[in-house]
Amino acid sequence: MSDWEKTKQYHHGSKHSYHRSAPGPGYMDWENQPDPFRRYDGAEVVDLIKTPLDTKPFYHEALSCNAISPQPLNIETLSQLLFDSLAISAWKSFQGSTWALRVNPSSGNLHPTEGYIICGPVEGLNNSPSVSHYCPKIHGLEIRTPLPIQTWGKMSEGFPENTFFIGLSSIYWREAWKYGLRAFRYCNHDVGHALAAINIASSVLGWRTQMMDQLGRNDLKILMGLTNSDGDEVEVPDCLIAISPEPIIEPLMTNNFIEDFSTLEWSGTSNNLSQHPNLWPGILEISQATQKPSTVSINHSDSKNSLAPTPLQQDSFSMRKAIHQRRSAVAMDGVTQISRETFYQFMITSNPDTCPPAFQTISWAPQIHLGLFVHRIDGLPPGLYFLVRNKKHLKDLKNKFKKEFIWSRPEGCPQGLDLFILQEGDFQGLATSVSCGQEIAGKGCFSLGMIGAFENAAVNEDAWIYPRLYWECGVIGQMLYLQSEVSNIRGTGIGCFFDDPVREIFGVKDLSYQSLYHFTAGGSVDDTRLSSLPAYPEG
Ligand SMILES: Cc1cc2nc3c(=O)[nH]c(=O)nc-3n(C[C@H](O)[C@H](O)[C@H](O)COP(=O)(O)O)c2cc1C
Repeated sequence: MSDWEKTKQYHHGSKHSYHRSAPGPGYMDWENQPDPFRRYDGAEVVDLIKTPLDTKPFYHEALSCNAISPQPLNIETLSQLLFDSLAISAWKSFQGSTWALRVNPSSGNLHPTEGYIICGPVEGLNNSPSVSHYCPKIHGLEIRTPLPIQTWGKMSEGFPENTFFIGLSSIYWREAWKYGLRAFRYCNHDVGHALAAINIASSVLGWRTQMMDQLGRNDLKILMGLTNSDGDEVEVPDCLIAISPEPIIEPLMTNNFIEDFSTLEWSGTSNNLSQHPNLWPGILEISQATQKPSTVSINHSDSKNSLAPTPLQQDSFSMRKAIHQRRSAVAMDGVTQISRETFYQFMITSNPDTCPPAFQTISWAPQIHLGLFVHRIDGLPPGLYFLVRNKKHLKDLKNKFKKEFIWSRPEGCPQGLDLFILQEGDFQGLATSVSCGQEIAGKGCFSLGMIGAFENAAVNEDAWIYPRLYWECGVIGQMLYLQSEVSNIRGTGIGCFFDDPVREIFGVKDLSYQSLYHFTAGGSVDDTRLSSLPAYPEG
């Protein structure tokens, strides 16, 4: 069976429907709950700085390109980047148990994503180049290995001065413990959320990001020191991002330095996460089928690095405040309305043409569209709407979707947004029911399904696009979360939905488009039983 056939089989097998949930444990094995924090015992630890929140830049400034002059790379700015992207943002407590919440959200708060820094000498951190692991629990770096200066020289050759790299990886077991087969999807959504969190934290510092998407999984394993990771707690590398004070012109990275990494001595032993890990069958298979080989270059999106100003409304909301106060709504009030103009801000920030900084690490042309259930927006009739995020798909979408859809432009819609009304009506009940009956999808101002090109997205049936579709969804989700905070409402990512019933709402009869992630935004009702504690109480 080809890798693409295996991918289709996994996708189908991990669907939820009204009659059957995707295969999973169906209960929580609390004895074996995986530790959400990876540690490398024995590795040298460097504490990072918990950067106080300042008011500037404002949200619209951080999302408009070139508005912020690039900060120098040093221990302060590297600390801030990680503090604003992968750190803990609060602890919650209820009836004697406490748990950490982070800047980047995660399905079930299980946090499969790990981060690694590969950098040259950084003032205040180290005198030599190094590879280190980021520990959110202490906001510190564990130094895994120093890098010979020649190796770093080869790796960073051709990049602007002070470029460094962040690698992301996933520990599937953390999600599979609760969600079984569907966990592979959630791990990749989480990678997408982390990618956007890094893009935005970089923008705050005036830095640019770019995905090093020529590298294959085996290269990434070597670079992140993960070649010996195996078994049920296997940690699999996903991607490497270059971060730079200046635009990175083209994918410059050669792979002539990778061999040098394979002879390095790595310090620290990775901790066991559970006593009896038991990875759900099928997860490793889909991971293997969708692993990317190294390639010369990949099909870059036209808008890459051509950072045009964002047509966002001016605001005085601190971007870093939005980043750190972001939370998922657990319930929606069913009454809060937002204005039409506010709704259009959501559309602007979830689109790479109108908000390039957020999407810098998405190196392929957009494959994901938004199928919107509009419930409570002043000045717009409730109904089914659609945001086309790639004009080239419009004709095909019109062909595949129900013939009775009207495809009319909503009033006041800003130019540059391909937003359409498909059908007016009350979709609160349907939105709830297809989101596994979760009321947050019907009681918000709007909710949505991310409708991804599926069969056609896999050019030459390259199965490695499959995780990337979820990464793109995760980036959109992260922007919807941030915009919700700035608009004084709250969002929630929704991974639990009934796949085929969503597809049928739009009339798609084949594998051309599939729903890949849901999201809701609205007036939230807080759970007052929980108390909140500061992210790092010791200061
Ligand atoms: C990929 C993904 C899927 C999620 N699915 C759901 C869901 O189906 N229902 C829900 O209530 N919350 C869902 N969430 C929200 C998480 O439960 C939430 O992010 C997590 O508990 C951490 O809380 P925080 O977002 O406030 O940091 C999802 C989040 C992500 C990132």
